[in-house]
Amino acid sequence: MSACPTPTIKHHHIVLIGMMGCGKTTVGKELHRIMKIPFSDTDQMIEAQTAISIPDIFTQFGEDRFRDIETRILRNHLDKPHRSPLIISTGGGIVISPINRSILQQLGFVVWLNADINTLFNRVLHSGNRPLLQTAHPKEILAKLLEQRAPWYRETAHLSIDTSTLTVQEIAFGIMESSRVFFNDFNI
Ligand code: S3P
Repeated sequence: MSACPTPTIKHHHIVLIGMMGCGKTTVGKELHRIMKIPFSDTDQMIEAQTAISIPDIFTQFGEDRFRDIETRILRNHLDKPHRSPLIISTGGGIVISPINRSILQQLGFVVWLNADINTLFNRVLHSGNRPLLQTAHPKEILAKLLEQRAPWYRETAHLSIDTSTLTVQEIAFGIMESSRVFFNDFNI
């Protein structure tokens, strides 16, 4: 684990970023359980607000439209004044946009859940709900996306964790303790 604080924090949420299959939802739900903080997921919010599934948004309206909605959801979190803390799990591509990267950092403690390509691929292997992986060579696509996005995850996160060899409980406990130090340091 490595820490690198940023001065632009407006909320005290815990925000999970990382590739498809890195365990954001699972770890987020465990954090919700041990910290008693509500869990929120940007993909679920997109589906709830549009009443359309993520694969259908991609098919019917395209990725650009999906990214616009993703930014709107993120901005809503930022604009809510003095909200009590949330655990926010995000879609893997949320860091593509520079605006999103800035918003993410203002939302609180940002944690990049990382894993090697084999671990990620094994975790998404049987998932039919990742439109970007519905191709003849999903592992190659996943590896390319990881290579492309890794610098963005790295620059956005205050903490990065390699999840390949840790249990969900170990990861969640590490994030909980680190977030206490982080928010204490920033006095928020
Ligand atoms: C995406 C990841 C998905 C979802 C959408 C696009 C991506 O979320 O937002 O399919 O670009 O990596 P998960 O990371 O939760 O699978």
